[in-house]
Amino acid sequence: MTGIHEQPLSVVVNGTPATATVDTRSTLVDALRDQLGLTGTKRGCDRGECGACTVLVDGRRVLSCTMLALAADGREVTTIEGLAGADGALHPVQQMFLKKDAFQCGFCTPGQVMSAVGCIREGHTSSADEIKEWMSGNICRCAAYVQIVDAVSGAASAMEAESR
Ligand code: FES
Ligand code: FES
Repeated sequence: MTGIHEQPLSVVVNGTPATATVDTRSTLVDALRDQLGLTGTKRGCDRGECGACTVLVDGRRVLSCTMLALAADGREVTTIEGLAGADGALHPVQQMFLKKDAFQCGFCTPGQVMSAVGCIREGHTSSADEIKEWMSGNICRCAAYVQIVDAVSGAASAMEAESR
């Protein structure tokens, strides 16, 4: 039985079908964290200004605090929990964030990493300035920006070399 403001949600999250009953007013970050237990996605500003809640929907970067959960119905969502390989090997972006020390407190990191994956896929990594521009929606209150740009650049190069 669903309430007057509730609807069933059906999504594929990190390759696995998932269902939940969500309030029609809930955002995707609410559904991911509070109903599907995927707390890797962070809720920062909750109003589209910090990038902490970035996930991929059908492969594209989305601020999950600005998207209604039901707008993701029937779509594929990738969160930070879904980036590592089945064998547990970290994604090249995750590896490079570790290698370059691209975080301090880590709160912004899941969003930075998901945004970096999108930025690389979109091909916006030809220079540090381009990376800065296309990662500018992701705020880091610890100001690890130099290392973040370095990590995105390094991961882009590593992924390009891997695909050759
Ligand atoms: Fe979504 Fe800040 S929590 S942009
Ligand atoms: Fe602390 Fe970015 S590492 S907010």
